Amino acid sequence: MCLTIPGKIESIDSKGVATVISHRERAQIDLSLVFDVKPGDWILYATNRAVKAISEEDAKEIISLLEDKYNPVDVSRLSLKFKKIIYKVRSGDSNLTKDEIIYLFSLKGKNNLETLYAEANTLRKERIKDFVCIHGIIEFSNYCKNNCLYCGIRKDNQGIDRYRLGVEEIVEVAGNAVENEGYKLLVLQSGEDENYSDSELIQLVREIKKKMRVFIFLSVGERSVDFYKEAYESGATGALIRFEISNQKLYAKMRPGHKFDDRKRLIQELIKTGYYVATGSLFGLPGQTIGGIADDLIFMKSLKAPMLSAGPFLLAKNTPLSCHPRAGEAMTWGSNISDGFPIGSGMTRETLLELTLKYIAIARFLMPEIKIPVTTALETLDLEGRHLGLLAGANALMFNLTPEKYCKSYAIYDDKYREREKVWQKYGLFKGEESWEMIEQRLRVVPEMDRKLN
Ligand code: 5AD
Ligand code: SF4
Repeated sequence: MCLTIPGKIESIDSKGVATVISHRERAQIDLSLVFDVKPGDWILYATNRAVKAISEEDAKEIISLLEDKYNPVDVSRLSLKFKKIIYKVRSGDSNLTKDEIIYLFSLKGKNNLETLYAEANTLRKERIKDFVCIHGIIEFSNYCKNNCLYCGIRKDNQGIDRYRLGVEEIVEVAGNAVENEGYKLLVLQSGEDENYSDSELIQLVREIKKKMRVFIFLSVGERSVDFYKEAYESGATGALIRFEISNQKLYAKMRPGHKFDDRKRLIQELIKTGYYVATGSLFGLPGQTIGGIADDLIFMKSLKAPMLSAGPFLLAKNTPLSCHPRAGEAMTWGSNISDGFPIGSGMTRETLLELTLKYIAIARFLMPEIKIPVTTALETLDLEGRHLGLLAGANALMFNLTPEKYCKSYAIYDDKYREREKVWQKYGLFKGEESWEMIEQRLRVVPEMDRKLN
């Protein structure tokens, strides 16, 4: 489930510990789980344990995905302000001010951008190494009772086919992913679909936990704290719930009938309950400013959640925002030109990609140890999105496991990307006890045995 690193064995001592050279380190690796290897062979390892032997050709392929592709940057051409921010981050101070964040978002030009991404990637490597988690996401229902203006599966969108999977079907999809493909982290996602009662969802968590060993992340939107507490006691480990927008006014406009404070309270309760919470914002919305995005990042940091889930707003057909903002129509909700600069109008795919990579890199500056997945939206923006995201400081991937026949209908936005590159699966998904321990360690979750699982 978590990506390993290829390394070449230099020597093996009498205790079965190998000295291994990878693309960035020389490490002492325990070989007790991998037999029949000799100096000169390649292995995949994670933390300090070998996972399996691999061919040199495969090793080179994965190295090319992990390696930086940025040329050494010309430091002399960076502004004094940028250099000061880099110095601050390098010396361990992650409390960037709003002004500094806005400044980073305003950077332009190859040299500046590559410096920003490379710095974030270096920080990621230093603080959390090359440990890339792979999550599988099962979108089990696209019904939603809400009408968020930006969302393609909002209630009033008559233009999509609705579907919902039964509990047994979901368990079957999960079983296939876990037993056959080696997934160890599953996200169960849906719109806010009241057709599933609280007890049905809890039953679902129990069924999956009974049948297979897997970490379950719930992404089912706003339900009561009592529901989430019971789901946690029943075996759910994580909750993926974005706060979306921390500007109360814009939040209320974009999510009719909902209040930012309720969302915030729920997220804080989930963290208190013990959930591994993934949260974050939607950025690039009409009416947002860069200052607003900076506020979102500062708010995110204040939550102290272990994982970020954030992504750019992409157009979705048949929604109130579908002819905006890339179509150029001006929208001014909540915007305040003095607050950074307004975004939204006339934004091209390239600008949005740049905004997303900047968001990831700045998030890494602010939260050096947080888990940052490359979200589907980034992959939708650019085929190389997965790679670019990792090189800008991200360290997790989400693969879509929704059954093929429903994939198209989970159209939160248009042309959603859903490929699962073989190479990532090959290196990221492996079976065996050691990968479980690594995840538990990394997630710092309460070991399941210590929780009251029925
Ligand atoms: N573009 C990008 N992300 C979207 N989401 C909903 N609609 C869109 C869109 N048009 C995101 C929301 C939600 C997550 C499941 O999908 O942030 O939290
Ligand atoms: Fe429903 Fe979530 Fe879409 Fe809002 S963003 S309409 S809550 S699925």
